Amino acid sequence: MLKEKYIVRIMTLLVCCLFLSGCTGTDPSTGPAPTSSAPMPAGDDTPTPVPTSAPKSTAEPTPVPTPEPTATPTPDPMPTSEPTLTPAPSTAPTATTEPTPEPTPVPTPESTPTPTEPSGVLIATLADVPSGATFEFDLEGEKAILVNFNGDYRAYMNRCTHKGGPNELQGEAIVCQWHDSKFDPNDGAVEQGPAAAPLEAIAIEVRDDGIYLPGAAAGDTTAEAVSFTGEVLAGTTTKYLVFTKADYDLALRMKKKVLLQFYSNWCPTCAADDNYARAAFGVMDDPDVVAFRINYQDSDTDTDEEDLARELGVSSRFTKVILVDGQPVFNQPAPWKTDDYAKELAKI
Ligand code: FES
Repeated sequence: MLKEKYIVRIMTLLVCCLFLSGCTGTDPSTGPAPTSSAPMPAGDDTPTPVPTSAPKSTAEPTPVPTPEPTATPTPDPMPTSEPTLTPAPSTAPTATTEPTPEPTPVPTPESTPTPTEPSGVLIATLADVPSGATFEFDLEGEKAILVNFNGDYRAYMNRCTHKGGPNELQGEAIVCQWHDSKFDPNDGAVEQGPAAAPLEAIAIEVRDDGIYLPGAAAGDTTAEAVSFTGEVLAGTTTKYLVFTKADYDLALRMKKKVLLQFYSNWCPTCAADDNYARAAFGVMDDPDVVAFRINYQDSDTDTDEEDLARELGVSSRFTKVILVDGQPVFNQPAPWKTDDYAKELAKI
């Protein structure tokens, strides 16, 4: 019985509750929501919610942009501080551009040895060919000459175009020793016959302190001095020269038979000897012989001559010494006559 009473009460309470809730409408969202939402668009055209959202959006954009620009300048100072660092990188790029010129000096030293494009073969030093001198050298098996004409160097094949005679610079012209043809030292042009064609010119290059054959490689061409530069007292094929150490050394290198005639410029016997020697060598025709007049104990004697006299044991002013292959093989302290020179040289 009790149980039934409770059930009735509970049911009553539930009905009450339902009733109360239906009267107040406090909970339309749950129960009558579908019913009330359907008629709303028709009768209740209240756009109220719309204007409500509109003013909200109008007010909102105003504050939004305000903080945004505020935030925007914030990153700006960042780049501002970056330019502050620019000087640092500016030194960096400077360093970046510096290494670029660094490689430049590297190839420069590499090109320096090229100059050492000092190519070609040295014919002679400038000291070997003083002004007015003729310097003979061998070019691929043929004789050639180098002349210094008033400071200008020229080279020609030493072959006269008449009949192939040897040539020598004499004053203002290159003169053939056989028939006196004359050539212009500047370009080899004929100035006087019988030659009709110019001397064959050789290209040379003057640089630093030497005269070079520019097109030749070392070993391809033999450039060897075979001529003397001292004063010639007499002779063409067999020269009688005023002594210089350079010519004397050259004669020894050339394996010449060398005659040394000691001479004092104050001695009458020596002067007579000198005249006989000029007469003898003026006609001698032996290319393997060369003679030097060497001063001895006089005002013109230099240290080279003193050293050589001492080395050869000379003690008389008209001594004659003959050397073969650089070695003294004859020594006679006596005056000679013209015929004695050829005769004594022939014995050796
Ligand atoms: S060979 Fe030179 S002039 Fe005769």
